Amino acid sequence: MRRLIGTVSGVFALVACSASNGASTAPSSPAAPPSASSPSVARSASAATAGTTGIGDPYFPGDGNGGYDVTHYSLALAYDPGRKHLGGTATVEAKAVQNLSQFNMDLHGFTVSKVTVDGADAQFDRKGDELTVYTDLDDQDDFKVTVAYAGTPEPVRGSANLGTYGFVPTADGSFVTSEPNGAKTWFPSNDHPADKATFDFRLTVPEGVTAIANGELTAPPKTEGGQTTFLWRESHPMATYLATMTTGKFSVRTGDSPGGIPVYAATDPRYDGVLDNLFTESGKITDHWSKVFGPYPFKSTGGVVDDFDAGYALENQTKPIYGGFEPDQSIIAHELAHQWFGNSLSITRWKDLWLNEGFATYAEWLWAEDNGQATAQNAFDQAYANATDALWDYPPGETRPDDLFNASVYIRGAMALHALRVAIGDDKFFPMLKKWVADHKYGNVTTEEFIELAEQTAGRQLGDLFDAWLFERTRPPKVG
Ligand code: ARG
Ligand code: ZN
Repeated sequence: MRRLIGTVSGVFALVACSASNGASTAPSSPAAPPSASSPSVARSASAATAGTTGIGDPYFPGDGNGGYDVTHYSLALAYDPGRKHLGGTATVEAKAVQNLSQFNMDLHGFTVSKVTVDGADAQFDRKGDELTVYTDLDDQDDFKVTVAYAGTPEPVRGSANLGTYGFVPTADGSFVTSEPNGAKTWFPSNDHPADKATFDFRLTVPEGVTAIANGELTAPPKTEGGQTTFLWRESHPMATYLATMTTGKFSVRTGDSPGGIPVYAATDPRYDGVLDNLFTESGKITDHWSKVFGPYPFKSTGGVVDDFDAGYALENQTKPIYGGFEPDQSIIAHELAHQWFGNSLSITRWKDLWLNEGFATYAEWLWAEDNGQATAQNAFDQAYANATDALWDYPPGETRPDDLFNASVYIRGAMALHALRVAIGDDKFFPMLKKWVADHKYGNVTTEEFIELAEQTAGRQLGDLFDAWLFERTRPPKVG
């Protein structure tokens, strides 16, 4: 609950906002100071202070924010592909984790026209990719922020190691993949995987355009006045980088996997020939991983192939997206394995990215093994034989911020898992994977926690093994 003082700053904000025509401007005074007679003097000893501008990940100091935890995002957005114009309102439900005089959200570009906190106008300003909201909240208060904004989305373009990501306008819509920190290019958020939340999407696009988000449709799409609105809901916690609002002309096939999991597959007309294959393989592979890793964590599965030539795929929750290529079984197996490793279990810090990519790459090896193509040992041997010095020089247990998606994070990360499997044996390794998944379902994880579980499973110290495969800049001896 907000205290009475909130009303005072709310009134102050109203004045400040109308004076500035509602546009984002610097406040004339940071956080309205409480008057001496205000009830805030009776409050707990710890004064309200600003939430930090980052969540505390040393790799990306500006990403995420401190002082609050988001529980739910409701994104009511309209996109016009012709004008490349995105606008609407984001409603963010959160809990304060300290007394807050102000807090930040991550947002890149756009014009913010109005911010409210618990229904009252709030003062705000913009600086770089930070939106600062002035408020007065107590530790543990649940609160609701609305941000009205509009403009032309600016994706992060062509960065050396990450390519183009975020909200990417395409000829007929948008291709939206936000790993690692592109959510801020389309909605105000606590843009870091350490703060997961559930999502509702109300997406409006011109008639004839399909809007695809995470989770499931909660009602049939509705067309009115040449505009169609799609209502999607992701009812399980999701990292911001896994949220999507992919729009355009799509062919869609829906149904159930053989194991009974709802499947949604969509392809850009250029890839219509792969729609049935995408639908079938995605269902089959989701069923398979449900046996290997434990029950599928979400309510539906699927995939999207769009014609934007991203050069990569992303494991968007419930609907991995493939950017400008026909996915083969191996990459579908990879992206769907991420639904367990990365999506249900999310990293707490980017340095632990091998917990996503090493596991998803190992899943590719398991897929081949389980289908009688080649054993994981064969894949390991080949990776070992093909490894360059660069792979041995990059310890995947400490992902580098300037080279997050280095091959070592994928391949040497997978080799680390194989080395563990060889060391403890299949009868311990596979139950351990299931336990990892079950123990941390919908949560956040660290490398330390994984090592602890591995040692507990093995009944002995495994420091040398993990040092060799995750942390040292030398080539470990071959295993198997
Ligand atoms: N997690 C994705 C995958 O392994 C890769 C994402 C790459 N992101 C980027 N901005 N390049 O499939
Ligand atoms: Zn991956």
